Amino acid sequence: MNRIFSFSLVLVVSFTLPGYAQRKTIDQRVDSLMKLMTLAEKVGQLNQYSGREVTGPASDRKNYLLNDIKNGKVGSMLNVKGVKDTREIQSIALQSRLKIPLLFSLDVIHGYKTVFPIPLAESASWDLDIIKQSAQVAATESAASGIHWTFAPMVDIARDPRWGRVMEGAGEDTYLGAQIAKTRVLGFQGEQLGAVDRIMACAKHFAAYGASMAGRDYNPVDISEQQLHEIYLPPFKAAADAGVATFMNSFNTFNGIPATGNAYLQRDILKGQWNYKGFVVSDWGSIKEMTPWGFAKNLNYAAEKAILAGSDMDMESEAYKKELENLVNNGKVDLKYVDEAVRRILYKKFELGLFDNPYKFSDEKREAKVMNDPKYKDIAKLAAQKSIVLLKNDNATLPLSKGLKNIALIGPLVNAKRDQAGSWVVYADTANMVSVYEGLQKKYAKNVKLSYAQGTGIDDALTNGFPEAVNAAKNADVVVMVLGESWDMSGEAKSRTDICLPGQQEALFKAVKATGKPVVVVLMAGRPLVFNTIAAQADAIVYAWFLGDQGGNAIADVLVGDYNPSGKLPISFPRNVGQIPIFYNYYNTGRPVTKPSDIRYKSAYIDSPNDPRFAFGHGLSYTTFAYNDLKLDQATLQKGQSLKLSFKLTNTGKVVGEEVAQLYIHDQFASIVRPVKELKDFVKVKLKPGESKVINFELTPEKLAFYQEKIGWTTEPGTFKVMIGTASNDIKLEGNFELK
Ligand code: BGC
Repeated sequence: MNRIFSFSLVLVVSFTLPGYAQRKTIDQRVDSLMKLMTLAEKVGQLNQYSGREVTGPASDRKNYLLNDIKNGKVGSMLNVKGVKDTREIQSIALQSRLKIPLLFSLDVIHGYKTVFPIPLAESASWDLDIIKQSAQVAATESAASGIHWTFAPMVDIARDPRWGRVMEGAGEDTYLGAQIAKTRVLGFQGEQLGAVDRIMACAKHFAAYGASMAGRDYNPVDISEQQLHEIYLPPFKAAADAGVATFMNSFNTFNGIPATGNAYLQRDILKGQWNYKGFVVSDWGSIKEMTPWGFAKNLNYAAEKAILAGSDMDMESEAYKKELENLVNNGKVDLKYVDEAVRRILYKKFELGLFDNPYKFSDEKREAKVMNDPKYKDIAKLAAQKSIVLLKNDNATLPLSKGLKNIALIGPLVNAKRDQAGSWVVYADTANMVSVYEGLQKKYAKNVKLSYAQGTGIDDALTNGFPEAVNAAKNADVVVMVLGESWDMSGEAKSRTDICLPGQQEALFKAVKATGKPVVVVLMAGRPLVFNTIAAQADAIVYAWFLGDQGGNAIADVLVGDYNPSGKLPISFPRNVGQIPIFYNYYNTGRPVTKPSDIRYKSAYIDSPNDPRFAFGHGLSYTTFAYNDLKLDQATLQKGQSLKLSFKLTNTGKVVGEEVAQLYIHDQFASIVRPVKELKDFVKVKLKPGESKVINFELTPEKLAFYQEKIGWTTEPGTFKVMIGTASNDIKLEGNFELK
């Protein structure tokens, strides 16, 4: 046993003595440990492997990974989960010279064992409380399964529904996105790292990945500095302010430089201006991908660029492992960059308590107790109910009336289970998810006949199931069609150029609608779809996204009126792909369209209106709400002051309902043009029939500021319009004030 080894053993053992944590700050503990580390061991901490194979049958890859773990060449593993497996792999890491524990990470994006609605769907709830609970359950379940760290939340603002990853974020709006980013971080992590039922979060993908050109995944981003700061960065800043433990960088370029090698993004903004203390993990292979980008001529150069630019951990490129020691030894990379990255990573391991107990999260009893806790199903059901958006409801077709005898259930997603889990499934029991058919069956027991016809597949050219479907419709009092995309048409690497309802589904709708029966359409998808015939002719439309394992129950609750829908769109629904990118906070132009006949020499299309099919913030209820008595506490605001507003919201219908009241502003003239509307606050309120509530909002100076290149965030004197409404295109109250 050499001297360093025996000394390190004493030191590492002493880390575990009771009370030690109180005696030494984490910084000191990191310092002491780093003094013992060789350069190779430091580089090891920066290396992250994916490894389902490490627990699988013998293979070359398995041997390779296990050897590296045993030799202290790995700091973190992704895709190893479960108490048994994480314990086994951790025990191998503890055979390394310094016994530094591994971090186990995983994409726990919308639930672990219990599957919650996809993030875009949950964002449609505009309900921060349920969003937090969803993240807490995901954290509790995955933490009980040995996981320390999730690669969520994705906080990329996305204005292009062709991009498959819109399903993973909070939609198109920066303010809503920032609120949700913060909520999800606090849900996953809790107030302080280290609790055994919470995990580290990761704000991804830094930065501007949502602006990938043409909605194609992994594509370049070419946006202005002002757009970067105003539209894309605030959700990341909100996550950082909420204490997010880690960031992940992104596959795209910004200003021609891949984000992974972009020192402006990672060093100047994140670690500089924002003084961020957590660590940055690369995206999968994004260090080595700087070569095909044409930015780094080989892996050696890619490693140099990445570490200098502030990428701390290398996910699956093996660039640091293979190149970093040489780069330091030949003077290309100063050791201080490696030290800084190692320090950030070790700090998190200490904060989690892994040095005190490397198996802290891998506890069999807790795992058995936590998994399948029925109360999580109730939370998942509430989240699913709140995520549903009622897009259309002519003649109060919904809720379905009481005296029905026969309902025809038609469409390729009536029995969908796996599809409702969406694209990120890590541990779900997809066979036990609840389909719409099963949800309705429970509601109606034997009293109502449910007939079923598939009609067509999701993406089929076939129409030979149409006659059976039409027949079922003819014999029914009402038809419920369940249509949409399959789970693997959205998500990573699932961009589409055509976002119309796939296959023959709209043709099936037309055939069914021609029977003259009332038709309710339930749509499932991971993105906004285009469905113009349905939008025009369906009696009611329920947008159900992918709602997780309680989807069928939640949809049935909405259809029969046991839950009054309260969701609002977090993203605009275009009429056709040619309108993309389409979003509510656009600029007016010098030739704005003010009436439908404004086409020639106006900023218009000659073949389509400019506005979306369904606007940001839109969503109906089974009750109605009245907005009255807008009051602004001042007509003129001095610089630095806040404006207080209030108004009265009343439930004017016959059932209890929840309304999402939305506050928008328009800065009318400024030294750079401002959007026609910007969301600045919202509130979700539950009211009984006839009940009123006075709602208060506050417009702080930060909410009135905008970003100017070379100046930063600033307010300017001028007139602002205040708008309060039930949707971005349905404003109920307006006022003005002057900012000095
Ligand atoms: C995705 C990340 C994800 C990572 C690990 C990448 O391809 O872009 O969002 O966290 O894989 O699975």
